[in-house]
Amino acid sequence: SMAEAAPSYEDIQKISDFLLTKTKHRPKIAVICGSGLGGLADIVEDQNAIDYKEIPNFPRSTVPGHKGRMVFGLLAGKTVVCMQGRFHPYEGYPLWKVALPVRVFKLMGIETLFVTNAAGALNSSFNVGDIMLMKDHISMPGLAGDNALKGHNEDRFGPRFPAVSDAYNSELRQLARDIGKELGFESFMQEGVYVQVGGPSYETIAECKLLRMLGGDAVGMSTVPEVIAARHCGIRVFGMSLVTNMVVMDYDAKGTVNHEEVLETGKRRAQDMQKLVSKMIAQLPGQ
Ligand code: 6GU
Repeated sequence: SMAEAAPSYEDIQKISDFLLTKTKHRPKIAVICGSGLGGLADIVEDQNAIDYKEIPNFPRSTVPGHKGRMVFGLLAGKTVVCMQGRFHPYEGYPLWKVALPVRVFKLMGIETLFVTNAAGALNSSFNVGDIMLMKDHISMPGLAGDNALKGHNEDRFGPRFPAVSDAYNSELRQLARDIGKELGFESFMQEGVYVQVGGPSYETIAECKLLRMLGGDAVGMSTVPEVIAARHCGIRVFGMSLVTNMVVMDYDAKGTVNHEEVLETGKRRAQDMQKLVSKMIAQLPGQ
C-alpha cells in the first residue's frame, strides 16, 4: 500500500500559525540542535519554549539525550528559534516527517538554518572533539531511493527537481572559518563531507571502509533530510558536525563505538560550538 502522505501546505501553515500564537518572537534564523548540543537552546534569552507534544500534528522525539521542544528567543541579540531535539529516520519516521519542522520554519519566515549533529570520523586525520563544517553530503538513503521530497511536490515550497550542489552556503562557511580563527579554534576545525546512513546500528568495518572510499569524512544518522527540505524552499543552510568518535576501521581494534561516548564528547565541546554559532548569528547581516 501507499505510504502515508505528507501534510498539505495548509496543514503546515496551521502548525506555523499555532507556534506564532505561543510567542511574540518572529525569528528569521532557526537552529536544529543535534545529540548533546541542545545546550544552545538553554542559553536563549527571553525564551518561550513549546514542547513538541503540545504542537498539534507534530512528531515527538524518542532518543535519550534529546529533549523535544521548540525554543524561541534571543541569541547574541538576534531573534532565533531552536529545535532542542530532532527527529531521526531510525526512530521510524518517514523522511517527510523528519523534515516537517523545516517547512514549518519556512512558513514562520525563517531565512537561515543552522544544523548541528554528532558524527563519527571516517577521515583518519580528524580527532575526537573536532568540529567539521559541512561542505557537502552523501546520502545513502537518498541514493537508495528515499528522499525527504519523495512523493507529491508542493510547488509553493519549491521545484520538483531542486539542485543541492550548493546546499551548504559558502559565505556562511567562510564566516565560520573566520570566527573559528578569532576564537582560536583552528586546531580543531575541519571541513568535509557528511555521509548520512540510516542507523540505528553503527557501521561495520567494511561499511566504514566503503564510505571513506566514497569520499566521506564523517558519518551520522541525521541532518540531510532537513537540509534537502530547506534548500527546496530556499532557506540557506549552515551545517556543522561534532566528531564524537573515530569510526572503527581496523579488525584488530579493541573498542567499539557507543552512544554514551557520543554524548560525553558532545558535552566537552558543546561550549565551543555554542560560541561559534552565537558569534556567527551575531554577525549575520540583515537578520
Ligand atoms: Cl560512528 N556512526 C554513525 N552512523 N553515527 C554516529 C557515529 C557513527 N558517531 C556518532 N554518530
